[in-house]
Amino acid sequence: TIAKSTNILWHNCPIGQSERQNLLGQKGCVIWITGLSGSGKSTLACALSRELHCSGHLAYVLDGDNLRHGLNRDLSFKAEDRVENIRRVGEVAKLFADAGVICIASLISPYRRDRDACRALLPESRFIEVFMDLPLEICEARDPKGLYKLARSGKIKGFTGIDDPYESPVNSEIVIKMVDGECPSPKSMARHVLCYLEENG
Ligand code: PPS
Repeated sequence: TIAKSTNILWHNCPIGQSERQNLLGQKGCVIWITGLSGSGKSTLACALSRELHCSGHLAYVLDGDNLRHGLNRDLSFKAEDRVENIRRVGEVAKLFADAGVICIASLISPYRRDRDACRALLPESRFIEVFMDLPLEICEARDPKGLYKLARSGKIKGFTGIDDPYESPVNSEIVIKMVDGECPSPKSMARHVLCYLEENG
């Protein structure tokens, strides 16, 4: 995005990230969950926030669907609006991480470039991408909101995976897949992410 503000100065506050980290006893980070509609992003986000909360960690979920009720209510699902959607959420997630919170962002985020731009906002290792690598057929069979059905019948245009693109990540820190033809449970997905967080400090 081209910056349009001019004559602006950055103000530093005496209480910074490390003071907040000491207070909270944790480092903030962004866990960015990407995947098709119905791939289980929100389910993982909820399970993970519960596990983190129960183990005494401050976490907050930024859910794409929910944010489109407020912050992003002016955005459609056209490509340029999806780009702006991800840019805004990336910036908000960065603020949460700076505040010391484990920020769980759960959005389709269909374009690799936008996800990488969000990654670039944070120090290395503070952005953890989780790819919900479930086949479209599974997501469509689940169809929790009936949106795939509407998309197939042409009642929704530009639906991700049907007539709008999804660019699969190529180097996510964590990939959630089916095991022996079974989808992992919410708890096992959350554990997978927690193990990664523990192993990586
Ligand atoms: S994006 O692509 O990252 O900007 O999308 P996001 O903000 O995550 O919003 C996705 C939810 O919006 C609903 N929805 C659609 N998804 C994809 N394509 C189209 N055209 C569309 N229209 C509405 C859908 O419920 C998505 O929720 P999830 O949780 O992903 O199923």
